[in-house]
Amino acid sequence: MNATTHDLNGLAQTAWLTAWCHVVAGSDFALERPTSHWLIDTFGPPPFAPDLSWFTVHGVAQRAALFDDWTRQFVAACAARGERCEIWSIGCGFDARWLAFAPGAGTIARYVELDQADVIARKREWFAASPFADDYAKVDAYGLDLAHDALPAALAADTPVLVVAEGVLDYLPERERLALIAALRARAPRAEFLLDGQNAWSSARNNRRVLRSTGSDAVRFAATPPHPENFYLERCGLAARARLHAVPELMRRKHPWLSRLPRPRRANEAYQLLWLAPARGAAPG
Ligand SMILES: C[S@@+](CC[C@H](N)C(=O)[O-])C[C@H]1O[C@@H](n2cnc3c(N)ncnc32)[C@H](O)[C@@H]1O
Repeated sequence: MNATTHDLNGLAQTAWLTAWCHVVAGSDFALERPTSHWLIDTFGPPPFAPDLSWFTVHGVAQRAALFDDWTRQFVAACAARGERCEIWSIGCGFDARWLAFAPGAGTIARYVELDQADVIARKREWFAASPFADDYAKVDAYGLDLAHDALPAALAADTPVLVVAEGVLDYLPERERLALIAALRARAPRAEFLLDGQNAWSSARNNRRVLRSTGSDAVRFAATPPHPENFYLERCGLAARARLHAVPELMRRKHPWLSRLPRPRRANEAYQLLWLAPARGAAPG
């Protein structure tokens, strides 16, 4: 294991960032990520750790904990119907939700991960030499560019599939994002999606922050819809099954007195976590 986090490319560095956030703020949300602790203990924090805001660190840990909870609910609902299901994590980075949702555990038939080829290669190398090697060996991982490459042929299911897109769709321009969702729905018509979305005000702010702290625009958030739940309903036929407006909740934690003041809608809806399912009567894609 000679390579370090410093020679990861810009996008892969964002995956490292999430492991760091899990370690720093995970306990505030009862997040279980022994893998993130192992990664940071072994390779150290990302170089830009001191530039991360309290909201970023806590928001990322909160997102992982909530998506764990929604994943558990999805799996339990499938099990209650006697159905096997699959979990497809797209833009998985170095996260390891598979530790809690490994194939063969209960009714989970397959756990799939997709990310850039170099991220997947690095992940294989690192986890194969980790205490989590046996669990990671059960994951089907594919390296590809989500914005341009076709999905692997092995990706198809007529059973329920939960697609987890955690911290990734905001890196894809709208056309590529919609094409990816359509392709996933064509392969798994019953797919439900967990995703996060920041509105245009929030992504512009974050782009300024990233530029300031890294001095480069190698990592940029795309312009995103102001009301993600309406956007995904109108453009993809996916309706919100659950949602969390993350900023107001984090404001309550950080500054309880601030939550008594009115906030502009753009701030209230700056960052949402969504669980989407096919809307009744809508055709896939
Ligand atoms: C902020 S990280 C999130 C990682 C992981 N989902 C988590 O929550 O820990 C964003 C991830 O999306 C991946 N990603 C972004 N754009 C991509 C693309 N076009 N193709 C493949 N992966 C991409 C990056 O490589 C990175 O691992």
